[in-house]
Amino acid sequence: MTHTKSDAANAAQSGTFQIGGDLSVNRLGFGAMRVTGQGIWGDPADPAGALETLRRLPDLGVNFIDTADSYGPAVSEELIRTALHPYDTVVIATKGGLTRTGPDQWIPVGRPEYLKQAAHLSRRRLGVDRIDLWQLHRIDPKVPRDEQFDAIKQLMDEGVIRHAGLSEVSVEEIQAAQQVFPVSTVQNLYNLVTRQSEAVLDYCETNNIGFIPWYPLAAGGLAREGSVLSSVAARLNASPSQVALAWVLKRSPVMLPIPGTGKVKHLEENVAAAHLTLTDEDFRALDEVGQQEWQAQQAKKGKKD
Ligand SMILES: NC(=O)c1ccc[n+]([C@@H]2O[C@H](COP(=O)([O-])OP(=O)(O)OC[C@H]3O[C@@H](n4cnc5c(N)ncnc54)[C@H](OP(=O)(O)O)[C@@H]3O)[C@@H](O)[C@H]2O)c1
Repeated sequence: MTHTKSDAANAAQSGTFQIGGDLSVNRLGFGAMRVTGQGIWGDPADPAGALETLRRLPDLGVNFIDTADSYGPAVSEELIRTALHPYDTVVIATKGGLTRTGPDQWIPVGRPEYLKQAAHLSRRRLGVDRIDLWQLHRIDPKVPRDEQFDAIKQLMDEGVIRHAGLSEVSVEEIQAAQQVFPVSTVQNLYNLVTRQSEAVLDYCETNNIGFIPWYPLAAGGLAREGSVLSSVAARLNASPSQVALAWVLKRSPVMLPIPGTGKVKHLEENVAAAHLTLTDEDFRALDEVGQQEWQAQQAKKGKKD
């Protein structure tokens, strides 16, 4: 990145959101998937750098950290515990329901007894009495979804988890889950140029459900020189990915982006996006080019299929 804003960065500048109506976090959080090895498998190449990155989070006002039992597996949760336990000011959100058989392999297992075991093991690894937010990483299509939702309800009733969320779901799936337990968050792929979850995001906003966009930094081809994104970035003395993040933050008050990195310098750059203010005009111009890029990608994909 060439130009970046990172002076006096603090995630508090992104504003706050109450998860489940009672758990306050700064909206700009951190994704702890990148503090593991290649293919999100095993130990990170630079364990000291990964620990330093995690330890820096509270200084930068980041008090919402997303992880999963499958990151490593176990590596990310263990590093978070080493770096930050007993989490004085930090909320740790984890996920379960995906198993790992090797690098880049992610296999859903939604048997209720497995999901319960996963939550118990995360609780033990993180060293907490109760997990603040536990998310079902994927609804397993091989298992009736109500059995998976019932397991989550039981984990809440037993005090193993406080709030619960879902990942990669449709509005219809959120509504089905809401029949069984209060859905506090939804974590779907979303960024300036990946827009298939617009309806889910609108549903979350209407129902005050936290929307956690993963891969929030992506700007695709929009980052090229001479583009609308590049010119807004140059005017704000920021990088294109900082502007992409600022756009995501402005898109909705329920938006809780979790950019991830294993590098302190990148973390500082990402947090600095919290104090970038986009005008309504810039927001709309970026929205338009982001939608165009998304539609172009879809058309290209349609031709290939
Ligand atoms: N629910 C799900 O299914 C799901 C799926 C994927 C991810 N997630 C969650 O979402 C989080 C974010 O997703 P993500 O990691 O895919 O996307 P991301 O945070 O948008 O991008 C991360 C990538 O960008 C790089 N990066 C980060 N900051 C940078 C900077 N300032 N300058 C240059 N490069 C930078 C990172 O590498 P370096 O380490 O080199 O900085 C990494 O390769 C994850 O950590 C995880 O918690 C959830």
